[in-house]
Amino acid sequence: MTLGLTNCRILNKGKLVSADVLIEEGKIKKIGTFSAADRVIDCKNSILLPGLIDSHVHMREPGFDYKEGFVTGSNAALKGGVTTFLDMPNTKPPTVTVAALEEKRILAKKCAVNYGFYFGTSVTNIEEIKKAKNIAAVKMYLNETTGNMKTDNVDVLKAVINYSRLTAFHAEGKTVQTVLDVYHKYRHNGNKLYFCHIARKIEIDALKKSDAYVEVAPHHLFLTENDVKRLKGFGSMKPPLAKKSDQAALWDGIKRGIVDTIATDHAPHTIEEKKSSVPPYGVPGIETMLPLLLDAAHTQKLTLTDIQRLCCENPAQIFRMKGKGHIAVGYDADLTLIDPKKKTRISNETIVSKCGWSPWHGKVLKGSVEMTIVNGMIGYKEGQFFKTQGREVMFE
Ligand code: NCD
Ligand code: ZN
Ligand code: ZN
Ligand code: ZN
Repeated sequence: MTLGLTNCRILNKGKLVSADVLIEEGKIKKIGTFSAADRVIDCKNSILLPGLIDSHVHMREPGFDYKEGFVTGSNAALKGGVTTFLDMPNTKPPTVTVAALEEKRILAKKCAVNYGFYFGTSVTNIEEIKKAKNIAAVKMYLNETTGNMKTDNVDVLKAVINYSRLTAFHAEGKTVQTVLDVYHKYRHNGNKLYFCHIARKIEIDALKKSDAYVEVAPHHLFLTENDVKRLKGFGSMKPPLAKKSDQAALWDGIKRGIVDTIATDHAPHTIEEKKSSVPPYGVPGIETMLPLLLDAAHTQKLTLTDIQRLCCENPAQIFRMKGKGHIAVGYDADLTLIDPKKKTRISNETIVSKCGWSPWHGKVLKGSVEMTIVNGMIGYKEGQFFKTQGREVMFE
């Protein structure tokens, strides 16, 4: 079974070039013209990107599947052009033991897109961390957030960065510098740091001279504290929405190459929970990130090349994902077709995520996801969903 895509445009050294793509057995077989395929789709000059890799999501299984689940969350991913996601450990039970990781592995088999897992920390689980196989990174929470997984013990921090080749942090404000100081002072064996959802100028300032990886989230790029009055609980997340000047520092960080990835921090909670007097932290984002970024590309806030680098190439490289992040022969046929001019209307009524709402409800954006291909299978095309089978990512 081969699938051929004709009349696509793909990015080549910053320029859009026309190409046809042939897919066979889930891999990219040929780029350029091909003679025949079992099924041919005319892409009508739409733009083909490598499938987006969302390196920060909370699919909520096990334990919180009333908020989201691997089926609904991965369908939302398909709609958003995301073909691979990395799932966070703040589930119930938390992913801090090999047994919990294996339980999650079984649950995730029902995903429509590809997936990988973070492994969490506790004060006592360093031996479990050492036993965990094929994980994206170790995740450490240094501030309070959903899931009560805060482990701000310096000995644990030292042990983790000494052992784990990549450690991801929830660290806010001055805590970013604290982590960097510990990193530079103690043995880390060339291991790397990855800072999740960087949201403020002081964090960017701490990170700009470091070689740590920097992730930013769409809610901090497209919303500020001025939106909180309107959004109320629906605008509550960690780190909180910040000032216009903080937001400007994030966009400037993208321009200057300080920011390495854009990831959604897809963190769904129910409408009821968000309406309560103590709304939990977090907003969904996996199905809206790409339209928001495409819209921003029209106002020169970033380029299509930036989107491809920050959402596809860099995550694949940072997390050492085999066969992902590029449109190249031999790579996995994870592909996202976009129309930069077609409009997307975000509405709570059409949100696929189980939570059923978006902080961007009512927004009309210029740019749309036309088709999402996972492992050579079409999972989403012009509003319709088709059966695909996701696989666990292999980390090199
Ligand atoms: C996340 C969640 O709900 O799991 N919430 C959030 O506000 N970002 C946890 C997190 O990423 O800190
Ligand atoms: Zn966090
Ligand atoms: Zn960097
Ligand atoms: Zn998160």
